[in-house]
Amino acid sequence: MNRSAMSVRAAPLVLGEEAIPEEEASAIAQIVAVVHDLLDTSARPVPRQEHGKGHGVVRAEFRVAAGLPEALRQGVFREPRSYQALVRFSNGGQRDESARDAHGMAIKLFGVTGPKLLEEEREASTQDFVLLDHPVFFMRDAACYAQFSRALGAASAWSRLGWRASAPVKLQKLALFGHLYWNYLRSHPEERKLLLPVRKAPPPSGLDIPYWSTTPYRLGSHAVRWSVRPRRDAALLPDQAPPAPADPALREPGNRLRAALVAQLSGRDVAFDFFAQRQTDPVAMPIEDPTVAWSEERSPSVMLATLHIPRQAFDTPRRRALGEALSFSPWHAIAEHRPLGGINRARRRIYTELASRRRELNQTANVEPDEGWLTREWDS
Ligand code: HEM
Repeated sequence: MNRSAMSVRAAPLVLGEEAIPEEEASAIAQIVAVVHDLLDTSARPVPRQEHGKGHGVVRAEFRVAAGLPEALRQGVFREPRSYQALVRFSNGGQRDESARDAHGMAIKLFGVTGPKLLEEEREASTQDFVLLDHPVFFMRDAACYAQFSRALGAASAWSRLGWRASAPVKLQKLALFGHLYWNYLRSHPEERKLLLPVRKAPPPSGLDIPYWSTTPYRLGSHAVRWSVRPRRDAALLPDQAPPAPADPALREPGNRLRAALVAQLSGRDVAFDFFAQRQTDPVAMPIEDPTVAWSEERSPSVMLATLHIPRQAFDTPRRRALGEALSFSPWHAIAEHRPLGGINRARRRIYTELASRRRELNQTANVEPDEGWLTREWDS
């Protein structure tokens, strides 16, 4: 769909209001079918269909700031307190961490009271925040994403056929991209323009870059986008080179972001500030289009909490397996932080179904962990 076709849709005029297009349910069903098809069921453990290459899952503490403005004291930000947390850093689509890619940060808070949005997880005690290292998403809604995912599904099926099936991985990838370009990107210049900058050159470390939710969420009666920025305090970032990794696998370029995480956290604590940016204009800061940046001049982000990641040795086979079995989802949430907008509505079914399918194939529990699990399983 091009921009002129999109602009005929009326923009919602009320702050925080969602506008659900008629065709959305069928678009979501199409995306679900494709992502199921794209799940790599031949690998063990079966990786996540997106963000399958994790750099590591680390232990953290989420410290809600004191003295927040009354209007922002909602949900987990109601009072100054600490939550135990796990944070997963990941590549978007590439197994090779030296390749261009999007990078993810997913935060899971533990000990969060109140009913959760997913019926089957009402009693769970977790709240997740799922973020990318780019301020906007590359697809505006479920209908556009359905079109893109159909093209991706076709390209992927083609790249696994004939001579390509036995070709080296690099060549298979090139064939896939060529097919996608010829059959989709070539005729979708707007989407192409949005997609290319999401694939970034690998940063020196996932600990040194900012991340954004790109999609909106409730903060009580407000609609906000979340973001996270690394703190630059001298106390937390001493001027020292991280030690060279002892594990030979970590010296391979394909694992460079995991190696950086291991090395940095072996030497020092790090911290990120966690922000909310309020929607103050329903047209210029849309709920239904995460490809539009929300202007910081119009509405500056407000710091709500600090994510403190203590120095630690996290990279053990046991924790790798526990981290693989986790599921992060924007819908692991309380009503005060309900996800908003079409891309988030699509993610409700997608993340729930895909996480439970891979967990079933991997024969791991399909439940949200709690604080008891964190001390009993993670810390032991
Ligand atoms: C319709 C659009 C989207 C689709 C189809 C999609 C699909 C998926 C899937 C299937 C997973 C793996 C779920 C699991 O097995 O646990 C995933 C994970 C992830 N997605 Fe999305 N996603 C979409 C939008 C987004 C957006 C807007 C963001 C922006 C923050 C995002 C960031 C991530 C991250 C960071 C992860 C990794 C979470 C983890 O560490 O477990 N995705 N996505």
